[in-house]
Amino acid sequence: MPAGNRAITFREPRKMTLEDHGYPKLEDPKGRKIEHAVILKIVTTNICGSDLHIYNGRFAAPSGMQMGHENTGEVVEVGSHVERVKVGDICSVPFNVACGTCRNCRERHTEVCLNANEELGFCGAYGFNLGGWQGGQAEYMLVPWADFQLLIFPDREQAMEKIRDLTLLSDILPTGYHGCVEARVGTGSTVYIAGAGPVGRCAAASAQLLGASCIIVGDHNEARRALVKNAGYEVVDPSSATPVADQIETILGTGSRWVDAGVDCVGLECHGHGPDGSSKNVEEAVINTLLEVVRPAGAMGIPGVYTNLDPGAPTELNKQGLMALAFPSAWVKSPSLTAGQCPVMRYNRDLMMAILWDRMPYLTPLLNTEVIPLERAVDAYEIFLDGSPKKFVIDPHDMTKLMSARDESESAPSAAPRMEVA
Ligand SMILES: NC(=O)c1ccc[n+]([C@@H]2O[C@H](COP(=O)([O-])OP(=O)(O)OC[C@H]3O[C@@H](n4cnc5c(N)ncnc54)[C@H](O)[C@@H]3O)[C@@H](O)[C@H]2O)c1
Ligand SMILES: [Zn+2]
Ligand SMILES: [Zn+2]
Repeated sequence: MPAGNRAITFREPRKMTLEDHGYPKLEDPKGRKIEHAVILKIVTTNICGSDLHIYNGRFAAPSGMQMGHENTGEVVEVGSHVERVKVGDICSVPFNVACGTCRNCRERHTEVCLNANEELGFCGAYGFNLGGWQGGQAEYMLVPWADFQLLIFPDREQAMEKIRDLTLLSDILPTGYHGCVEARVGTGSTVYIAGAGPVGRCAAASAQLLGASCIIVGDHNEARRALVKNAGYEVVDPSSATPVADQIETILGTGSRWVDAGVDCVGLECHGHGPDGSSKNVEEAVINTLLEVVRPAGAMGIPGVYTNLDPGAPTELNKQGLMALAFPSAWVKSPSLTAGQCPVMRYNRDLMMAILWDRMPYLTPLLNTEVIPLERAVDAYEIFLDGSPKKFVIDPHDMTKLMSARDESESAPSAAPRMEVA
């Protein structure tokens, strides 16, 4: 058993450090022994826009918290009650911590598990000040309720070959997909996705998988818009002098200003919206845009994060955990809106199959992942915050070498799935 466990650690806003927290024990955040848990050696762990909210001091977190909720790892130790998961399995860890037995878990709402966050009473996540579970931007991590939670990849070698896409299953691919499902994206739908960050780009790829026709992504970040455009989707610039609804009307070319579906992949830190910057510091800008551009009887998915734990909230209203929504103007359109964390387990197995069977070959260039060692992660936070069009994937043990071999033979057809999974 290794002695230590180096982890990216939140100290204060704009200050992450690499610190040794000691090898994890099979214990819950209160120090009670849990035999349903396993220890994973981290294969990949991604930096997410949700981590940036913490980094920016916009989602309060305790100093000393280990970061990282987008984790993939190899099982190296199992508790005595674990039966399905075995040492050596390579697994994707849904970012929601979920028990599998409470009412919400049984209804497939693992994002609001009733047993994973003793303080709040619901909603646990790793590395997120939601239940005290430590994150996986580290060498090792603890995963409770492992038999229920872990998605085991069917073939180790194939998993490592496709790790660049499979690493997205712990959060952002299911999250982008969930945003589209909640917005009722289906065959022929027109969709507006706010935000061309990694979640917005996963939402665009998901809309394509779900059969959408016109997929429009909005972001003022030019480099991120370029990735989206290169993948064959439409783009709008919310900071342009032309309002988003007018830009959408031009793209649709049907005289309609409305899309069928809207997805918020931005959240509370939206900015750069409106030609005069008037909405610069208004949390509700993106939701209000969706209320405007989604057609009557259309639907909206809101995976973008909002919180009342925001010490940096820009307005008096926002500081009270409230928002100035254009709800009265939109009410007559019969809007339908779903918000909250993504229940990753509802989608991750099926999206894994889509990746293994090469149904999403456009993911890799669209996400533009860069694999980095743990030592570069602190700097990567700053680069990502600065709007980099990359998705940073941390590989603490240099385990993804096989993946590079695949990159070198990019034109060769990728491996077919080797076995069916339960
Ligand atoms: N609900 C969930 O389960 C879940 C899971 C993962 C991430 N998230 C959230 O999804 C959001 C996006 O995550 P990400 O990793 O892509 O973050 P990100 O910060 O990399 O991307 C956000 C993008 O939004 C753009 N943006 C800002 N204001 C905008 C506006 N007014 N209109 C259009 N675009 C605008 C930014 O330029 C940026 O490119 C974050 O809030 C994140 O916390 C939620
Ligand atoms: Zn995430
Ligand atoms: Zn539960």
